[in-house]
Amino acid sequence: METLEAVLQALAGRLRAARHVAVLTGAGISAESGIPTFRDAQTGLWSHFDPEALASPAGFARNPALVWRWYAERRVKARAAQPNPGHYALAELARHVPRLTLITQNIDGLHQRAGSPDVIELHGSLHRARCMADGSIHDTWDYDAELPHCPDCGALLRPDVVWFGEMLPPAALETAWSAAIECDVFMSIGTSGVVEPAASLPRVALSRNATVLILNLEQVTTARPPLFTINGKAGEVLPRLVAAV
Ligand code: OAD
Repeated sequence: METLEAVLQALAGRLRAARHVAVLTGAGISAESGIPTFRDAQTGLWSHFDPEALASPAGFARNPALVWRWYAERRVKARAAQPNPGHYALAELARHVPRLTLITQNIDGLHQRAGSPDVIELHGSLHRARCMADGSIHDTWDYDAELPHCPDCGALLRPDVVWFGEMLPPAALETAWSAAIECDVFMSIGTSGVVEPAASLPRVALSRNATVLILNLEQVTTARPPLFTINGKAGEVLPRLVAAV
């Protein structure tokens, strides 16, 4: 079996030669910043509610104040958290390759705070709200209001996140597919890869002969080049990989 160091060196060589690197991240990369995953976050008070009540259009229509309380708590926790070495390593990697497309399923904003530019947010952001009437996007709102309203038209605001049963933002999805098709190296980091498009993007990249890395705390799949897998913590593995590039 190859050592981690040997795998990192092989990947670093491919990253050095790459013209376009695509990276897809999930909840795992923020775990080391103390951000619970959606499922882990449903503890304590929130354990009585099913995900549909807290994160679906029907749940919001039934009880918008409850949904806003849930997202307000998550937003405050995300603000209090700090990016970890995994987030910083990806921001650093972007400075060493001609082109890097960073796609995330996370809504915590930690990649941006680590200095990554142009992050493609597939599932929206905790740090934005959207007007229910005209779809306008707001970066700030009345955080103390039980039900925040649009400063422009007075309609109800909703969190600018993707809920169960909703489409992903088409432009973000299109960018993610194009990156998977065009890239030379695709890295999937800290995602269980069970929901779309996280499940398909690495396969698309592989089918186009890209080098693919799956980095996850748990054993996800067996692999041989051009598919590499590393079982480990993103915050420990990514800084070593980027240092080797
Ligand atoms: P999951 O919670 O499904 O998976 C997180 C993955 O990260 C798991 O496979 C863990 O083994 C792995 N992991 C945990 N800690 C790690 C670490 N330190 N380093 C590396 N890997 C680690 O989260 P996602 O795959 O992001 O969607 O979930 C995808 C989507 O499913 C979410 O965005 C959410 C949910 O339904 C919406 O809310 C629309």
